[in-house]
Amino acid sequence: MHTPGVGALLKQVGERGLTNVRVIQHDAVEVLTRMVAPDSLAGIHIFFPDPWHKKRHHKRRLIQPPLVALLASRIQPGGYIHLATDWQDYAEQMLVVLAAEPLLANTVADYAPRPDTRPLTKFEQRGIRLGHGVWDLVFKRVE
Ligand SMILES: C[S@@+](CC[C@H](N)C(=O)[O-])C[C@H]1O[C@@H](n2cnc3c(N)ncnc32)[C@H](O)[C@@H]1O
Repeated sequence: MHTPGVGALLKQVGERGLTNVRVIQHDAVEVLTRMVAPDSLAGIHIFFPDPWHKKRHHKRRLIQPPLVALLASRIQPGGYIHLATDWQDYAEQMLVVLAAEPLLANTVADYAPRPDTRPLTKFEQRGIRLGHGVWDLVFKRVE
């Protein structure tokens, strides 16, 4: 989707000699629906999805009940979904939507401490400079 980002990622994969990475530049919803088998993923990371901060654009936000049901169906039982956002009202929406998904349970009360596994991206660094907060959510698939 963001071609320069894909290029930067491929450059790092090459420089580090990694052989266990597959990059797909395509709509993640379609990829999950058509290319990823049910109950197959150890975990899913979605960091800083576009916030669509204008209220009339909230319907474009990625984290909505149908997508969360799709995500939950692709994770193995016991697998996890880790989301992060720097928009408080999107974090609140994420919490409501994930908590309402019967296949998922929160690993903590409300928001999780930043897990060490989440890298600090340029995007987040810019947000921190601007004084934005960051909210992490880590849910597990229960069955
Ligand atoms: C705000 S950026 C965050 C990028 C990165 N995760 C980070 O933390 O720096 C949101 C990204 O989500 C991508 N995106 C939005 N909707 C998508 C979709 N349906 N499938 C795949 N990528 C999507 C956009 O192209 C954009 O690159």
